[in-house]
Amino acid sequence: MMKRMHDDPFHPRHYRDVRRPVREASTLPAWCYISEAFLRREHECIFSRAWLFAGRLEEIPRGGSRTVETARGKIILVRDPAFGAFGDADRLHRIRAAVWAGFVFVCFSRRTAGLTAWLGDMTQRLASHRFAEFRVVRRRHYTVRANWKLIAENAMEAYHTGTVHDDSLGAQASRDLVTRGHWDAIQVFGEASVAVLPGQPAPFPAVPSLSREARAGTFFTTLHPNTQFACAQDSMWWLHYRPLTPGLTHLEVGQCFPQTTTRRDDFAEGSKAYFHRWDTGIDEDNAICEVQQAGISSPFHRPGRLSLREQAVHRLNNWIVDQTIDDGHARRRIDAPQ
Ligand SMILES: [Fe+2]
Repeated sequence: MMKRMHDDPFHPRHYRDVRRPVREASTLPAWCYISEAFLRREHECIFSRAWLFAGRLEEIPRGGSRTVETARGKIILVRDPAFGAFGDADRLHRIRAAVWAGFVFVCFSRRTAGLTAWLGDMTQRLASHRFAEFRVVRRRHYTVRANWKLIAENAMEAYHTGTVHDDSLGAQASRDLVTRGHWDAIQVFGEASVAVLPGQPAPFPAVPSLSREARAGTFFTTLHPNTQFACAQDSMWWLHYRPLTPGLTHLEVGQCFPQTTTRRDDFAEGSKAYFHRWDTGIDEDNAICEVQQAGISSPFHRPGRLSLREQAVHRLNNWIVDQTIDDGHARRRIDAPQ
């Protein structure tokens, strides 16, 4: 029998199968992707407490401000000249804000530990890319008819690339990283950039400072809750997804290159191959997420098992349960004492 939501969708018994080791585990119950009540719980336990991505520092004019959408609403980022964030509705309401490597983050809670603790060892693992020296050159906005977590799960496994991206990116091999902090990652192997379609030489060079590990492949990272940084050797792109309703998500894709690359004479021409690959891959991912959402919304849907190539999806599902369900893991909560 299908597990029904009954009276309490947050009862731990509904999540026991998610908590099992990956070989025995199930995906999250359907209502996590379709119910208003579950999204309200996510707002209360996740988006109100987490450090949320809010764009690039270079986009805020010195002595000026920039309005940014977050999962918790509009905020204003200012550099006057000190950097800070304020509520859009109440400009006297100061919001915690911090920057890592040019990436801006904000937090609506006073109880959550600082951004450094949040990012954990991500700052070291991605240090050799020197993202402070990158510049965002292009953004794309999408409205996806899927729950925000489906977008998150999609990029945390390379299992789907051989089918969903069969005609474009093709099958990719990956490994899981062991991480510390509120982030997770897989690495897709290959010294050739996956930021252009296979078979095409990458027009732009790799970042010279890359570590041996970073040279070996692209990091697909999840910065919990709603951002991914895809870090190739020559470029990076982010996915920032904000739930609008349980079944509707705003997806923003930001595309960045090292500033040395953006200053090249052939940047306008060479960047076309990257933009084409990003637009192609993202259209295919969005389409499959919408198919998944339709499937999950069916009364015939059952939670599925996970393949060993989807271990990061299992970890992601468990992170959601950590934050939203009282099943004895309060120390993993966002605002648990350090
Ligand atoms: Fe994909």
